[in-house]
Formats: sequence, structure tokens, C-alpha cells
Amino acid sequence: MKRIVIFASGNGTNAQRIINHFKGSSDIEVAQVLSNKKSAKVLERAAASGVRTASFDRNDFYKTDTLLNILKNIKPDIIVLAGFLWLFPEKIINIFPDSVINIHPALLPDFGGKGMYGKHVHEAVFAFAKANSEQKTYTGITIHKVTPEYDKGKYIFQTKIEVTPEDTPETIAKKVRELEHKHFPEVIEKILMG
Ligand code: GAR
Repeated sequence: MKRIVIFASGNGTNAQRIINHFKGSSDIEVAQVLSNKKSAKVLERAAASGVRTASFDRNDFYKTDTLLNILKNIKPDIIVLAGFLWLFPEKIINIFPDSVINIHPALLPDFGGKGMYGKHVHEAVFAFAKANSEQKTYTGITIHKVTPEYDKGKYIFQTKIEVTPEDTPETIAKKVRELEHKHFPEVIEKILMG
């Protein structure tokens, strides 16, 4: 059985999709969902789906081996960041080299980096499209390897959509979320099963 560990900070719609996708699989399981926020909806969702959960704080994550020990116990084949907003520690990446992936709600290298998450990304895409209305603007999703810098690792998958004059940050967010839900579980499956 291949094991997925998901890190998420918020709502967890992507985590939910991933959990649903692999439910009942005899090859792949979501072994645990971990969050830096005790009250994150993602923990409720995971627990309701029968997936083990835990939360942690900055000290656990950056200063101690708490997380490293949890992960060494699980021995995940892949660590998936699905809306996880803290910088991932180098010491964990080094123990699981090449196995930590992230989803970003835009076409990196555009609209990435520190502070570029969730609605901030879609607002920036919208503002860019408005300021450059003479040209076509695209957004989309990027699934990439995680390195110790925000949004810098090698790209695994990208797909794009056009931003139309009728779009708002909200409609962009909705379309991008649909792309994430459609592709993220499939890309994870492909990485794990080849
Ligand atoms: C997703 O759109 C994900 O791409 C984004 O947070 C959202 C989480 O939604 N991640 C980032 O912006 C990382 N820079 P969810 O909690 O409903 O899955």
C-alpha cells in the first residue's frame, strides 16, 4: 500500500477530493492529514472521512523533530501540500527528497512567491488582466516539487484557462478550483503508480 500524507491549513476541498479519490483503493491510501491550524475545516473533513488527523504549532514544525517523527513512522510515499501556507522545512524535504509536492492556483512562475496564496493570487491575476486588456491573460494550476523556497521547485503539471473580460476574482477562483479538483488526485495517482 502506498501512503499519502496531506498538509493543509484551511478549508481542505482539495484534501477532500484526494481522500475521496483513493477511498477503497487497494494500492493507495491517505494515511494522515496534518494541519498547522487546530480549527481548520480540513481536519473535520478528514476525520469525517475516517482519516487520521493531527495539528501542530510553529515550535513542533520548525524547532523540534515532532513532525519528522510522525512522518518517519508513517513512511509516506508522497507528502502533498494542499493549501498549506507555511514554508516547508528543509530538514523534512531532505529526509523525503523529491517526495514533497505542492499545488499552486496559478501558472508559476507568474503570481507565485511569499504572500501569494488563495484569493490574493486570483486578485493579482484579475488586476493584471484588467491592466493588460489588449492581450490575452491566462491562469491555471501548477503542481510542483517543493524546495525550501516558496513556489520554486520543478514543475510536474500545469494546465491553463483564459481569463475573460467577464471574469471577477471570484469566478477565476471557482474555475481554478475546478481545475485543481479535476487534476490533483490524478496527478498524485500517476506519480505513485507511474
Ligand atoms: C488551493 O486553491 C491551493 O491551490 C491554494 O490554496 C487553496 C486551498 O484550497 N494554495 C496556495 O495558494 C499555495 N500558495 P482548499 O483548502 O479548499 O483545498
